[in-house]
Amino acid sequence: MATAATLDAVVRAAGPQLGSLMERVEARLAALATGYGPLLSHHAGETIAAGGKRLRPLLVLLAAGDPPEEAADRLLRSAVAVELIHSASLVHDDVLDRAPTRRGQPTVFAAAGRTAATATGDLLFSRAFAELAAGGEADDVRALSAASSALAQGELMQREDAWDVAVPLARYLQRCELKTGALFEAACRLGALAGGGPADALAAFGRAIGLAFQLLDDVLDVSGPASRTGKARGTDLLDGTVTLPLIVARERDPQLAATDLRALRSGAETEAICDRIAATGALADAKARALTVVADAKSALPSSLPPAQRATLELVADGVVERYA
Ligand code: IPE
Ligand code: IPE
Ligand code: MG
Ligand code: MG
Repeated sequence: MATAATLDAVVRAAGPQLGSLMERVEARLAALATGYGPLLSHHAGETIAAGGKRLRPLLVLLAAGDPPEEAADRLLRSAVAVELIHSASLVHDDVLDRAPTRRGQPTVFAAAGRTAATATGDLLFSRAFAELAAGGEADDVRALSAASSALAQGELMQREDAWDVAVPLARYLQRCELKTGALFEAACRLGALAGGGPADALAAFGRAIGLAFQLLDDVLDVSGPASRTGKARGTDLLDGTVTLPLIVARERDPQLAATDLRALRSGAETEAICDRIAATGALADAKARALTVVADAKSALPSSLPPAQRATLELVADGVVERYA
């Protein structure tokens, strides 16, 4: 995926120290999943080992800038904890979405069922807080707890709004900020807290690029192609999840506004709705909205940031966008 290549470029641009910190994050993630019985160790371990772009821990490290050596332990704990929360939320999200695959592998839900997946997610959530608590920084625990609570709210909101083709735009955007923006915000805040940078400004940057990331993920679900996304087009629609492309398109095509998503049966019917959404020009508009959010976030970065740190943060922001170029 384009983003993974861009993130490699970020690691290259930021220098070998970042690469070695990311390796330490990786080693610690693998170690933390073990020790809670064979079943949980297996599912939690496989979830972590399946990879993922590690975008959020990377953001933690970049938001810290060039931290003093004594901040390294706090920084690593934060990076690890953020990725654990992310992984936990995906395992639970796949239960809610009844998703068959994740990170190229069968989901825990598909492989072992709802009970095992719920417990695996719970374990990953609790390991994240244990990791931060051991560092003894109450502000860090608070920041991660805020993101974790927002995620729960956002995911529940998505279920409440399921099948509602008329869901208000503002409510959709709020849901995206809660379920995705808040954890990106926490990633940047935690990095800034460890590195001593401007925490509120970096948190706002994180929140914005998290929002854009979700908007673009929602565009990709409709645009495909499946060969690129690894899942059939319209997976969200089949699941009753109404996202920005349809919200924009319904204003332009009355037949779309009257669609009963519950009546969608086959992949072919869902593909036809995706084509109809695309025909209104809604995908380009949704993408443009996300690009504007990213551009605004980049230009709002404080001028006091060291130029090298600004450059790598901008590179990550561009990486979020390039996933769709
Ligand atoms: C997927 O996030 C969930 C969304 C917020 C859209 P990522 O695309 O960052 O997932 P991984 O970690 O790379 O698998
Ligand atoms: C993002 O929502 C998941 C979380 C923030 C937990 P999605 O449901 O769109 O993510 P994918 O598409 O399953 O990765
Ligand atoms: Mg999902
Ligand atoms: Mg999605």
